Amino acid sequence: MLLSTILFNAFATLTSALPTTLSERAGGPSTKPIPDTCKLSDPHEQTASAPSDFIPAPSVKSVELYAAYYPSPSSNTTQMAQQCLEQCYGYGTSIECKGAFWAENMVVPPGYYGSPGGQLETACVFYTRALTEADFEEAPEGQGTGAYARNIAC
Ligand SMILES: *[C@@H]1O[C@H](CO)[C@@H](O)[C@H](O)[C@H]1NC(C)=O
Repeated sequence: MLLSTILFNAFATLTSALPTTLSERAGGPSTKPIPDTCKLSDPHEQTASAPSDFIPAPSVKSVELYAAYYPSPSSNTTQMAQQCLEQCYGYGTSIECKGAFWAENMVVPPGYYGSPGGQLETACVFYTRALTEADFEEAPEGQGTGAYARNIAC
């Protein structure tokens, strides 16, 4: 897994200017349709006062399974978020990724594949456990646009 992540990373860096989708990049988790027998839940819907643009809180970093940052390949945010979720299901043997987060305008972490980071890109992040409301915080102005989070239980 680590090796494939590194390879994916190197390749993603090389191709970051190209309008490919995440799944088309070598080594990235491929999408896999989520069967109806799996239950999807929205961990961010649990409180009415939740802000619409949100980001993962720093504490959830410890249960991060995989993260990709890339320029949005499309203007269809619904489609991109769905693709991220299907990549979560497509990761490994479909049991590793329990929750996924997707948003535009996410700060690329310093050191992401050796880059200085800091710029805003689209993010797709997978987690090893189901997410809860407490795993998120309100996004700074202009960040976490269109944030989407789902847990997958199969
Ligand atoms: C965006 O993608 C979704 C899911 O693939 C699709 O149903 C919808 O028609 C698309 N919207 C536009 C405006 O293309």
